[in-house]
Amino acid sequence: MKELSLHILDIIQNSVNAGASIIEIEIEEEEKEDIFRFSVKDNGCGMSADFLRKVKDPFTTTRTTRKTGLGIPLLEAAAVQCGGRLDIVSEPGKGTAVTAVFQNSHIDRAPLGDMAQTMVTVISGSPEIDFLYTHIKNGQSFVFQTEDLRRVLQGVPLDTPEIIGWIEEAVREGLAEIQVK
Ligand SMILES: Nc1ncnc2c1ncn2[C@@H]1O[C@H](COP(=O)(O)OP(=O)(O)O)[C@@H](O)[C@H]1O
Ligand SMILES: [Mg+2]
Repeated sequence: MKELSLHILDIIQNSVNAGASIIEIEIEEEEKEDIFRFSVKDNGCGMSADFLRKVKDPFTTTRTTRKTGLGIPLLEAAAVQCGGRLDIVSEPGKGTAVTAVFQNSHIDRAPLGDMAQTMVTVISGSPEIDFLYTHIKNGQSFVFQTEDLRRVLQGVPLDTPEIIGWIEEAVREGLAEIQVK
């Protein structure tokens, strides 16, 4: 995939499909340690130990529309190619945490891509889910929480066009402030 944000979108979509009500996204870029890491944590249905063992196999999926699930195997391949790895911790009925680590400066590491667009896509698709997005770059952080916004909006749905436009701007500006390009 051309951009890591597309992998992140796919992993978030898995959490949505797992029936999560809270999804936490954390991205950390540390140039000194040469690490690029992201994780997606959810409180969805989780996976059994047996299923989790098979999930990195491209022929495992619970979706019926397409035979092969490729999201996780593709992300793992991308991470491993960049001197990193993919970790999945999951518990049935509790939730799942997927963490991908890349060597930041690796020649094959795809650029992050547009996280403001990614957040807008997932929030418009599931405005009832609470998303928490933390981005840390070289020790500086930006946090975006739908929970805070919901409190201020007093019942106005997050997928209202004006709100979506505002979210996109807020994420774009917040990331620019910590020098995320
Ligand atoms: N966060 C998650 N919670 C519960 N199950 C998950 C989660 N992520 C992935 N899975 C399971 O792993 C399977 C494979 O995921 P993936 O590789 O992204 O392929 P796909 O989404 O196309 O099925 C999913 O079909 C689902 O059964
Ligand atoms: Mg998927």
